[in-house]
Amino acid sequence: MHFTSKLPDVGTTIFTVMSKLAHQEGAINLAQGFPGFDSDPKLQQLVTKAMSDGYNQYAPMPGVYGLREQIANKINTLYGSDYHPESEVTVTAGATQAIYTIVSAFIRPEDEVIVLKPAYDCYEPAVTVNGGTIVPIQLKAPLYKVNWSAVERAITPKTKMLFINTPHNPTGTILDKEDMMELSRILKGTDIILLSDEVYEHIVFDGKKHESVARYPELRARSFITASFGKTFHNTGWKMGYTVAPKALMEEFQKVHQFNVFSAHHPSQKAFATYLKEPEHYLKLNDFFQQKRDLFLDLIKDSRFKVTPAAGTYFQMLDYSEITQEEDVEFAKRLTKDHKVASIPTSVFNLHQEDFKMLRFCFAKDDETLKKAATILCEI
Ligand SMILES: Cc1ncc(COP(=O)(O)O)c(C=O)c1O
Repeated sequence: MHFTSKLPDVGTTIFTVMSKLAHQEGAINLAQGFPGFDSDPKLQQLVTKAMSDGYNQYAPMPGVYGLREQIANKINTLYGSDYHPESEVTVTAGATQAIYTIVSAFIRPEDEVIVLKPAYDCYEPAVTVNGGTIVPIQLKAPLYKVNWSAVERAITPKTKMLFINTPHNPTGTILDKEDMMELSRILKGTDIILLSDEVYEHIVFDGKKHESVARYPELRARSFITASFGKTFHNTGWKMGYTVAPKALMEEFQKVHQFNVFSAHHPSQKAFATYLKEPEHYLKLNDFFQQKRDLFLDLIKDSRFKVTPAAGTYFQMLDYSEITQEEDVEFAKRLTKDHKVASIPTSVFNLHQEDFKMLRFCFAKDDETLKKAATILCEI
């Protein structure tokens, strides 16, 4: 049978490659971005209870109303916005599905989509499958600040969408108020849809504020925000998340969503609707992960890796340029095979695989694991 791939350049992701290698080599896996601890037993019990209470058939297409109310309430309270649970919130099968559905609902062949690189790996295939053209803009190590003038220059009459991600995977950087003001300025007067991936919104360090698009009315009016319960509540395997957007945009989203997944896992939705009533369940996350980041940084302070502390997410980038000039993919593999610590080489997320000699380490692991990994990293 003959067919032509819609994604000829997509192979196995680096996460799969490095995790498989970590497993084969018996290495400590700080590569893949999943938490090394379990979800709150209380939340698990709520899911089990929802199942035994009979919530085992399709949920309403946009999501259980009680959960949409809690989501709108959370965002509106934290960011001073006014999302309406009835028409502006949809519960999704993780942020990935939300992102794919947003792109499918709006991107036509020839449309241009601006992506800031390094970028999370699900953005570009979604654009490509839908016939869009990616317009990449490379951010530079070690600070990965966005050059908004470059973004402004990249805008053409064909630009339909722009992706941002704060806090940012893989770099651990965050956008600040000045970034958001610049973004507002350059998008003003355009019809560009902003896709703001905020899955790490509750993991921001050093007392800084998460600059959600929801705080900025002019941006909010043109934006989808995507969020992930998996990242916030340590259950990435449940694949639960949501997206919010103004009504007119959300109507278009739901036209695709209803024929894509129709609705997300019903018992989990019932559980989250109850669990979100207690804000400390997500508000305590900043401190929890800051302790992990600080521990990891303290443990590797005498190593030869150079560090710019992560401002958010549960990833720390380490610059190994004082150790070796090997390419990052080679060095990451050698580190896994010979030293038994797995990480993610970040050139794979860059334009033309530009190599800044940066590896990404996930510190969402128990303290013992971090100590063992750090001891090894200090010996390299
Ligand atoms: C930046 C970013 N966006 C989206 C996702 C996907 O989230 P989910 O697991 O809810 O689909 C991830 C997961 O690693 C991520 O890092």
